[in-house]
Amino acid sequence: MENRLPSDVLALNFRPDMETQSTKGKRILGIESSCDETAAAVVVDGRTILSNVVASQIDIHRKYGGVVPELASREHLRQIVPVVREAMEQAGLRLEELDAIGVTQGPGLVGSLLVGITYGKTLAAALGKPLIAVNHLEGHIHAAFLEAHKLGEAPKLPAVCLIVSGGHTVLYEVKAAEPSQNEGFAYRKLGQTRDDAAGEAYDKVSKLLGLGYPGGPILDRLAASAVNAPAPTKFGPTKTRGNPLDFSFSGLKTAVLYHVREHPEYKQEISKREAELATGHRKFEELLPLSSSQTLGLVREFQNAVVRDLVERTMNAAEVCNVETILVSGGVAANSQLRARFRERANSRGLKVYFPSRALSTDNAAMIAAAAYSRFQHGRFADATLNATASMPLA
Ligand code: KG4
Ligand code: ZN
Repeated sequence: MENRLPSDVLALNFRPDMETQSTKGKRILGIESSCDETAAAVVVDGRTILSNVVASQIDIHRKYGGVVPELASREHLRQIVPVVREAMEQAGLRLEELDAIGVTQGPGLVGSLLVGITYGKTLAAALGKPLIAVNHLEGHIHAAFLEAHKLGEAPKLPAVCLIVSGGHTVLYEVKAAEPSQNEGFAYRKLGQTRDDAAGEAYDKVSKLLGLGYPGGPILDRLAASAVNAPAPTKFGPTKTRGNPLDFSFSGLKTAVLYHVREHPEYKQEISKREAELATGHRKFEELLPLSSSQTLGLVREFQNAVVRDLVERTMNAAEVCNVETILVSGGVAANSQLRARFRERANSRGLKVYFPSRALSTDNAAMIAAAAYSRFQHGRFADATLNATASMPLA
């Protein structure tokens, strides 16, 4: 394993100032390796971020158009040591100064999870510190709390939380737990996707349009450039039988596919963009000139449909649960239109909506350390038998 930090490690902008560095409190090292990001962070008392380091594997998986599990675990093995070291250095702490180690137990890719879990377990045993197992989804919920704390606010509970990423699209009700539960928070699942996650739909539509991987960021920007582009087609609201708070995105993805197949005029520009991608040109500025107004209009209509569905079902959930707070987290929460629409709708209903910053929306370890703190307070520690759990419901 390498001793130095690989150049592709992205050290996020959470440089501690001297005041926060000297903060006394419970210092938890969070470790996250459930998918394709190796991440480590130190957070004090579940609210003050001393460091937040993420090594992304996007460049490795890009050519396959999605995450390849075998490659992901191998890369986690390469990155885990330097990423943890960098997180400790940025926090200005020695390992002995930590109070606990929190690690993602699941859900996620088993081979990837195992790297973080094995490392976390070993570290905890060697240091004689408690080990805390964290559900990745609970981490995403805490990302929204962390952001609120940064603003000096505490979200009013109960709340409704939408977790929307490449792997998940799920709605929870979040409450303060009853004292008898010996937990910080209680969760109730309200609905989830029946097929693709919203981020997965972005990635698949982007691939079929020759716009690269991951799809969310590029489609977000192309849709914003489509102001005057006519709509080549319209996508109506998705109907789901049964639970009205469930989502479904595979029909929309298929509708885009059929539309493109039925209109041969898309073919040439898709081939041109694919050729551009093959030579490493994947930036928005490079792909925009190769995208017709018909394509821009299509991307905008696709995004309108996804955003409308996510926002309306979440607003309905807020009404059903009679809450005043909405939390939105996960990679797709970075979407500019989603944020704007949520703010608009929440304002008009007098609700408060919290989004993590972009860095806290996508997979990171600060959210794992924050979630671990709440378990730490209740003495809920894991032991050496802790194992990766691929499918791990939160409620
Ligand atoms: O949370 P995340 O980093 O990883 C997991 O899937 O757990 O989310 C990644 C997903 C990808 O599908 C990506 O296309 C999507 O989030 N995404 C976005 C945006 N940025 C990332 N989707 C829509 N708009 C964005 N701006
Ligand atoms: Zn995630």
